[in-house]
Amino acid sequence: MPYASAVRVLLFTGKGGVGKTTLAAATAAEVARRGGKTLVLSCDPAHSLADALAVPLGAEPVEVAPGLFAMQVDTQRRFELRWAELQRYLADLFARGGIDPLQAEELTVLPGADEVLALLELRDQAASGRWDTLVVDCAPTAETLRLLALPEALSWYMERVFPTHRRVLRGLRLTRLGGPALPGDRVLDAIGALHEELADVRGLLAEPATTSVRLVLTPESVVLAESRRTLTSLALYGYRVDSVLANRVFPTGGDDPWLASWARAQQAQLAEVRASFDGIPVRTLRYRPAEPVGLPALAEVAAELYGPDDPLGPPPAGELVTVQADGDGYLLQVALPLASRDDVALARSGDELVLTVGGHRRMLSLPSVLRRCRAGGARYTDGRLAVRFAPDPERWPTP
Ligand SMILES: Nc1ncnc2c1ncn2[C@@H]1O[C@H](COP(=O)(O)OP(=O)(O)O)[C@@H](O)[C@H]1O
Ligand SMILES: [Mg+2]
Repeated sequence: MPYASAVRVLLFTGKGGVGKTTLAAATAAEVARRGGKTLVLSCDPAHSLADALAVPLGAEPVEVAPGLFAMQVDTQRRFELRWAELQRYLADLFARGGIDPLQAEELTVLPGADEVLALLELRDQAASGRWDTLVVDCAPTAETLRLLALPEALSWYMERVFPTHRRVLRGLRLTRLGGPALPGDRVLDAIGALHEELADVRGLLAEPATTSVRLVLTPESVVLAESRRTLTSLALYGYRVDSVLANRVFPTGGDDPWLASWARAQQAQLAEVRASFDGIPVRTLRYRPAEPVGLPALAEVAAELYGPDDPLGPPPAGELVTVQADGDGYLLQVALPLASRDDVALARSGDELVLTVGGHRRMLSLPSVLRRCRAGGARYTDGRLAVRFAPDPERWPTP
């Protein structure tokens, strides 16, 4: 689909309360101040973007400073009802069509309407051609990961539901069980359109030159532990982190022993952050004397975070998934930084590789050259999973 060619998408994520909204708003304001037409949109139902900017926001973009627009994605709309309706419809249809109830249940569990709606809004805004930059203030990590995994997962789901759906409809028509009450093509068309729109979003988000993630954290051990896992999961789903923003850093060198103790602990954690996210730029922001609320305070935040640097920065380079020739076969490599070897599991399912890391799963569609191969040994070292593929004479008979 025709995105404005230069559109950049920055996704801000991190644990609850670390400063995602504040830093997303400050970054967007700085990008706009430097001349890029920018929309900051919040997908977090907590509605705090309006609080950080100190202006009321709605479900349509409003200009809050020259070139800076903001909006709150409204996820409580009718869509939720339609989604629930679709779910009931599918359940009923599958039940009447004699699909195994367990399988029917699996097929009718639809992903969250909130996430789907946020993605559709993102797509519409990107497609509108109005913006140079989209800054997305995401919900806390778990919801964000669900959101980011969704376009691919949903297309996988659609590819399975659709054929079942068709088969059942055909069966019902043949046996006249359904009668005229069968809502045939309209529903199919609606699902098909949704499928296409989500494929658009996937194209937008998976494009390395377009989209990158900023991981916001505070220098505390619990937050760092979660952020490390987030980096792994983001890579699993094919997202790149362009920088880590360490927020609420206490000043060092004061006389107060309480403060000095906190500052020491934080400096130790910051060293851990730099070591953990080796190769990813880390920017810091001090604990400010007051909540950074409103555009003047956010401008100070941006000045401290980015200094003279371009707040957009270049998107991170390097491929997350690569395939190279290796002897008489191939080597598939998937970047999975900071995973522990025991957490990585993998299985082949038809033309897909099912990758599971610490409770997150991705159905990785295999490049065509690997589909005719047998998966051999797998190794996880230095943050990369390497899987050997050997030519399979049964799938690819030699004359
Ligand atoms: N560097 C900072 N210094 C002081 N207060 C901050 C700083 N960063 C964020 N805050 C405040 O912390 C609270 C949580 O920040 P927010 O951006 O809403 O976090 P999140 O979006 O991650 O939940 C807000 O009240 C915000 O004003
Ligand atoms: Mg927030």
